[in-house]
Amino acid sequence: MEIIKIFDTTLRDGEQSPGASMNTEEKIQIAAQLERLGVDIIEAGFAAASPGDFDAIDKISQRVTNSTICSLARAMDSDVKAAGEAIAKAKMKRIHTFIATSSIHMEHKLKMTPDEVIKRAVRAVEYARTFVDDVEFSCEDAGRSDIGFIKEISDAVIQAGASTINLPDTVGFRLPFEIGAMVKEMSQYVQGRAIISVHNHNDLGLAVANSLEAIANGARQVECTINGLGERAGNAALEEIVMALKTRSDVFAGFDTSINTKEIYPTSRLIANITGIEPQPNKAIVGKNAFAHESGIHQDGMLKNKSTYEIIRPEDIGLDIQDTLVLGKHSGRAAFKDKLTKLGFIVSDEELNSAFERFKELADKKKEVYDDDIRALVTSEMTNIKKTYELIAMQLMDSTGGVPSAAVTIKHNETEITDAGIGNGTIDAVFKTIDRITGYHGKLIDYKVKSVSEGKDALANVTVKVTFNDNEPAIIGHGLSLDTMLASAKAYIGALNSYLSMEGKLKLRHTDSSETI
Ligand code: KIV
Ligand code: ZN
Repeated sequence: MEIIKIFDTTLRDGEQSPGASMNTEEKIQIAAQLERLGVDIIEAGFAAASPGDFDAIDKISQRVTNSTICSLARAMDSDVKAAGEAIAKAKMKRIHTFIATSSIHMEHKLKMTPDEVIKRAVRAVEYARTFVDDVEFSCEDAGRSDIGFIKEISDAVIQAGASTINLPDTVGFRLPFEIGAMVKEMSQYVQGRAIISVHNHNDLGLAVANSLEAIANGARQVECTINGLGERAGNAALEEIVMALKTRSDVFAGFDTSINTKEIYPTSRLIANITGIEPQPNKAIVGKNAFAHESGIHQDGMLKNKSTYEIIRPEDIGLDIQDTLVLGKHSGRAAFKDKLTKLGFIVSDEELNSAFERFKELADKKKEVYDDDIRALVTSEMTNIKKTYELIAMQLMDSTGGVPSAAVTIKHNETEITDAGIGNGTIDAVFKTIDRITGYHGKLIDYKVKSVSEGKDALANVTVKVTFNDNEPAIIGHGLSLDTMLASAKAYIGALNSYLSMEGKLKLRHTDSSETI
């Protein structure tokens, strides 16, 4: 069996999805889950982008041992140095450096000649090799680059020490047969001197098809993200590539991946819970409807023999439909722990105790506790951000034609502070009152509420995106409660706590990561 390397970039390109920023604690949780999933390489971030990114890559490097940890770096010394230092503590490490190779990018964005681009690429790879043995080089916009130039720059960077050549279709422009031809020509050209990798964007909805065609033509690494997150229309979805290879092993005979497919669904849920970005219901493999059979004819077929309409067994991706209705208020700690293990969570005794306590509170109020409730509960419990401010109580008043008001009690430094305020709506009143108590004035950029499971008594999962200073990036906060207003207040306070935990780091940027070079 030839192994196709799975390079996951959910934490880097995926984080470039609008609204998908994650804090350090969340990134560590995701990296640990990607390791359980079995990805070969985790692109943990772009170290030079911000001290927050650097810190997350450094912490992930210390935590993950079974996957290679990679940082992105533009072809410039300061980026490569930041990447090398951020991954220094990883057991297996890689620097991924890139520069654009299409004439459009070289002329209009970089304003560099092809010779200058080659020099920069070679310097970046040579410098990266002083930090690590494993260096990947990407020809940004390879999809629209001249293949002669890709060959020339590939020769130079392989000579300088790169062992993976990545050919991104950065703008998602290419069709499968075109990607296949490019990969075939490049695989034959490098003749085993480097691994050929692809990184396909989904602007024409072809990222997965392009990745499969690349594998059929010689690519031995694919870059992808969970739920297809990523810049603009996203990247190729990991779960779709992996399940296509597995389900159509008749076509892809002799190829395999190291992915434990039973971890696909738990990973997808974790990412959706943390980013607040749900896969579309009809999304292949992990969408809510991916295994739902609606029409009577289909249901009849399924009852007679599942193979009539089912090409993938839900349990193969870790979605055990039989087991979605779970625990109740009489369930004990052992059953709860067993459930967590089945759902793929590895928790410390302390985390188990506090999650169990919250589960009991929930089971007291909610008749049916589903797997998704437990996932959301444990995910929110495992985020170890210091609770500088903690919501103690909240009282709301609203009536048609009246003025919405909120009275809020918050604990800070062992002192409980209560205040009240009014607003244009209940949420406005709650957030303004929190601002008055804490002295921080947040600007709400985005607000999303999602029910975690079914029923009128479902848990509300609120995600907010807030800036506390115009010059600094927005911070994500999550709140979980049976009461939507309480979940909103918790999410807003969560964003503030997260901001305070990284305040110094946000202000001190290494470099401007929006500069092209
Ligand atoms: O899409 C792209 O070209 C990228 C590179 C940095 C690999 O994300
Ligand atoms: Zn990309």
